Amino acid sequence: MRKIVVTSGKGGVGKTTVTATLGRHLADMGYRTVLVDADVGLNNLDVVTGVESRVVYDIGDVLAGRCTVWQALVQDHESAARVLPSTNGGEEISAQAFRALVDAIPDADFVLIDCPAGIEKGFHRAVSAATEAIVVTTPSASAIRDADKVVSLLSAYRLEDVSVVVNRVRPDMVSRGEMMSVEDVCGLLRTPAVGAIPEDDCITLYQQLGRVPDFALSERAYERLASNVARREKKVAELRKVKKRRRWF
Ligand SMILES: Nc1ncnc2c1ncn2[C@@H]1O[C@H](COP(=O)(O)OP(=O)(O)OP(=O)(O)O)[C@@H](O)[C@H]1O
Ligand SMILES: [Mg+2]
Repeated sequence: MRKIVVTSGKGGVGKTTVTATLGRHLADMGYRTVLVDADVGLNNLDVVTGVESRVVYDIGDVLAGRCTVWQALVQDHESAARVLPSTNGGEEISAQAFRALVDAIPDADFVLIDCPAGIEKGFHRAVSAATEAIVVTTPSASAIRDADKVVSLLSAYRLEDVSVVVNRVRPDMVSRGEMMSVEDVCGLLRTPAVGAIPEDDCITLYQQLGRVPDFALSERAYERLASNVARREKKVAELRKVKKRRRWF
């Protein structure tokens, strides 16, 4: 079982989106995938995956012995992935208890852990349960600075692999020199990229409706990310500007 924490330092850069979308792609590839919401108190993985209304038990119930981990898993509507929902007000959950809970997840090839923003207790708890980390950042200076802090903090944990997903890339701005390229970002972080996801309005739009459709700009990038993760590869090309199609009508 590979346990990958999706973290960032800075909030709002796309951790939950990357966890859900990467998880769905891994599930589509046939891997048994569980998405764990480690954002205790500010949980939203259940909302992003659309399972919110079907949540019966959460992490708090599992830890209190009211149900098994298996009973708490909720089937994602859009893929074969399962979601382990977070609890409200579980700040007292220890890193040890959380780790034991993740280890008790039955029959999974991949466990993706959606980390809370920041570098405090919630970060420690989420990272302690993982064996690999994906650091999500946007190409903005403040996100990169926070990602840099996170990369140094991660060196204190026994992780097999740390890699970066650069999210919300605008290839047109990169080509004009107005935005840092994926190579620049990863150079600054001294950490290899495992994925580069373009800015895509479909993500915000379809997050409320269900799953981002196949034709969305970001889908190819997510396929590449999932393939890299599954094969433990780091094949990431700079994103190119999409040529406008000629309209015939
Ligand atoms: N590639 C993208 N293109 C456009 N919008 C995106 C992209 N990735 C994420 N978003 C949007 O950015 C917003 C924040 O994303 P998300 O909730 O995944 O961030 P987060 O890092 O989990 O935030 P938090 O730190 O609050 O948990 C969402 O509205 C999401 O739809
Ligand atoms: Mg989040």
